[in-house]
Amino acid sequence: MLNTNCNFLAADIMDIVRAFGCESEDFTHYFSYYGGKFFNSIEYLGKFYDFEVEREVQNDLEYKRYARRFSKLAFYNVLKTVKGELPWGALTGIRPTKLAYTEIEEGRDFTALFNQMGVSEKNIQLTRSVIEGQKDIYANKGGEDLFVSIPFCPTKCEYCSFITAPISSTKKFVKDYLYCLEKELNSISPAIKNLRSVYVGGGTPFVLEVDELERVYAAINAVFNGKCEYTVEAGRPDVFSEEKLKLSHEYGVTRICINPQSFSNKTLAAIGRKHTEEDVYKAFESAKKYPFEINCDLIAGLADETPQDFEKSLIKAVNLGFDNITVHTLSLKAGAKLKENTKRLSGSGIEEMLDISRKILTDSGYVPYYMYRQKYQAGGGENVGWTKPNKACIYNVNVMEEITNNVAVGANAVSKRVFLNEGRLERFGTPKDLKTYIEKLDKIIEDRLEFYK
Ligand SMILES: C[S@@+](CC[C@H](N)C(=O)[O-])C[C@H]1O[C@@H](n2cnc3c(N)ncnc32)[C@H](O)[C@@H]1O
Ligand code: SF4
Repeated sequence: MLNTNCNFLAADIMDIVRAFGCESEDFTHYFSYYGGKFFNSIEYLGKFYDFEVEREVQNDLEYKRYARRFSKLAFYNVLKTVKGELPWGALTGIRPTKLAYTEIEEGRDFTALFNQMGVSEKNIQLTRSVIEGQKDIYANKGGEDLFVSIPFCPTKCEYCSFITAPISSTKKFVKDYLYCLEKELNSISPAIKNLRSVYVGGGTPFVLEVDELERVYAAINAVFNGKCEYTVEAGRPDVFSEEKLKLSHEYGVTRICINPQSFSNKTLAAIGRKHTEEDVYKAFESAKKYPFEINCDLIAGLADETPQDFEKSLIKAVNLGFDNITVHTLSLKAGAKLKENTKRLSGSGIEEMLDISRKILTDSGYVPYYMYRQKYQAGGGENVGWTKPNKACIYNVNVMEEITNNVAVGANAVSKRVFLNEGRLERFGTPKDLKTYIEKLDKIIEDRLEFYK
């Protein structure tokens, strides 16, 4: 626990403290606000630091917003003198673009705030480019996206903390799970007025057998009008087949993901992916027989890869000609087998990898169009979706910027209802555990209908 006189600030402050790899025990914090000024006093390693920022506030919401902002900044300023700067400075939120939009919509230049918070010039530029890259999709707010969760995988990758399990241990649930999905999908039409996109993700949807996948697609047809973007996060190249690709095309899928993470066979073996570089080429070649847009996920910071190893993977992805390339920064959260291996968390080489990705992808004609950050991300990095012109994924922008309702079915699926005019949203989550989800299905269906009323 952080020693502070102001508990509502503790979580935000700890995000900054942890971003530097420090512990809460090292600090004592005293916060106050009077005379239109925010005061933060910090004791760290026997030294005292005082910060004050003048800012009048109009209401409680503004008071809390600035209290959080300036106390994070105070901690950032203390820690950067000892540990060095972070690329995103004192910004800790998941969506830097959302913060930028708030500033823009309230008539301010977002770069002033980003500068004040210590964000690097290149990350300010990245944010600007993402806003530009998504502007057509962002302008079209409202409507609904459908997410269908398939929480099954061929095996568990070492770095992954998603709630998915190897099919070997969950096969027994698949039949009941598909039945539940069918029932849920049949119940949701009152929640969908203007379907903007469909996303079948997880997990690894292509781990399902062909007839199982067909049940999912057939059930989605209860709400799919055959007109909008339709992504299947097919996933790992080791579960691709001609039949699954053909079926996907027949049911109206427009976009698929083939995710190498890395093109190095040594790295793939080290992270438990159970597929090779060769499998990626084969999956890509088969997928190219159909008019899909194809996304590729890569992760910077895997195993003991150097920036040069990462660059080789990136160049291979570019040369293959993926429409979208999503560059993730390794994030090791609870639930990942690699959690105890914290070597990468110090970020060695990560910034260089991200610089390489920006240069190579920009030079190859890709633009960044969505971005998000996670906790425990190596080197304080970010995840960025890059796209060839006019190939941006609508679903990714809608979800990241929270500009549409998200109707999410299946286990561990979070539906969101967005109240655009009020600047707020509500969430409705389903159980993570497969057995509980299956047992509670009827109640979930009832509660979701209530949620969308
Ligand atoms: C929901 S996962 C599903 C992808 C699919 N199952 C696959 O592995 O091909 C989406 C993406 O998140 C990224 N990801 C998963 N765990 C990550 C981690 N610990 N750090 C960074 N990125 C991660 C990977 O790039 C992955 O492709
Ligand atoms: S990275 Fe993909 S395949 Fe690997 S465990 Fe996570 S969701 Fe499953």
